[in-house]
Amino acid sequence: MARLIAVSIDCRNNEIRQTFVEMISRRQHYLIAKGQGTGAVDMLLLELDEYRPQHTFDRVRQLLGTAPDLEIFLTASRMDPQLLLEAFRVGVKEFLPQPLTRQDVEPALERFETRFAGKVSGLELRAGKVIAVIGVRGGVGASTVATNLAVSVQQARRHEPVALVDLDIHGGDLGLFLDVPVSQGLTHLTKDISRLDETILRSTLVQHPSGLQFLASGCDAYDDFMFEPGSMMRVTSLLRSIHRHVFIDCGHVLNPSVKEVLDGADQVILVTTLSLPVIRRTKRLLEILSAAHYPTTKIALVVNRYEKDQKDLVAEIEGLLGMHMAGLIPNDYESASEAINHGKPLTVMASKTSIAQWYQGGVGQLIGEQAKDASASSKEEGKGLSFLGRCFSSIGVEARRKSSVVGR
Ligand SMILES: Nc1ncnc2c1ncn2[C@@H]1O[C@H](COP(=O)(O)OP(=O)(O)O)[C@@H](O)[C@H]1O
Ligand SMILES: [Mg+2]
Repeated sequence: MARLIAVSIDCRNNEIRQTFVEMISRRQHYLIAKGQGTGAVDMLLLELDEYRPQHTFDRVRQLLGTAPDLEIFLTASRMDPQLLLEAFRVGVKEFLPQPLTRQDVEPALERFETRFAGKVSGLELRAGKVIAVIGVRGGVGASTVATNLAVSVQQARRHEPVALVDLDIHGGDLGLFLDVPVSQGLTHLTKDISRLDETILRSTLVQHPSGLQFLASGCDAYDDFMFEPGSMMRVTSLLRSIHRHVFIDCGHVLNPSVKEVLDGADQVILVTTLSLPVIRRTKRLLEILSAAHYPTTKIALVVNRYEKDQKDLVAEIEGLLGMHMAGLIPNDYESASEAINHGKPLTVMASKTSIAQWYQGGVGQLIGEQAKDASASSKEEGKGLSFLGRCFSSIGVEARRKSSVVGR
């Protein structure tokens, strides 16, 4: 299931509520709304007002008028056939007699899940692309890459909606990178995730002069904060339903929210540099992603701070990692830092520099780029191991030229 199913329960009878919660909790992918609100929920369990059934039916009509995709399950202790017919006519999808039993509830949930999967896959066909950017280590430039890629895509495709999300709960600097005022962010959206809808999301996004929509983390760098499980999955799917491209700065820690984003992303950009400790971590991260069965085509490895004379080093590292670099971003500390300190993207701050030109030119290729097996082109084939190769052997990492590390 690509996203969680949000359920709201509106029952006076507490026992019914508890039984339903218990049955739903045995299944995967459900999220129960805290209150009785219908916000952006996918399913509502509604108890019939047996003294005033028309009252309940009016409510069903009104709910479905504003949220046609909502599915309403009606529950009552008695139901005469005429009323049942009327309930289905106003749009109720399932009727659950009280007391609730597994024999009634489980088949109804299964039917619901089939209908829901069909709806979601239809939506996904029209959905935008999610590109997660993760730094192999702090300081490699993940935030610079995520910000400048997002701005460059927005500048190149003015009429397409593009979003940038700051999911670095220990960093959260992107508001400064873009010099946009930020008051709320992910922490606000995820307070009661079942209530999240497009209106709340749009009111939390901040627009950058380029047109890019920015969503801050809302975290303080020193907070011990964690998002509720499933929250990022829901935020991401809502974002992709209204944006063509969604870039997410995942920082450099593989916490559960970051894993959720990586799992659901169309592409994962790993930002690395050419120093030994960073390459060692890159190797390890690739192994983790491989163990999680990420296809090689989903991962793009990008070297930041690349110097022209490092061609051979790149070829050697490609051989060691069993992966081609999808991009080599020139080293230009002065421009990169100046851009951050002025809160401007590189393409605005230093448009003539090679680093800005890389972002302008390389971006389309990168976000459509597929990681390839480096075995065919490794220049090191047949040569003895260099210093770097020996270092890798000594830390238990072998050069692998015949097969790709990721996706094995
Ligand atoms: N291509 C580059 N060349 C030189 N310095 C860079 C480059 N990209 C980023 N930097 C610098 O690296 C530092 C860390 O960048 P940042 O994007 O905050 O990293 P991270 O998000 O991975 O911690 C910043 O000072 C930034 O200016
Ligand atoms: Mg960062």
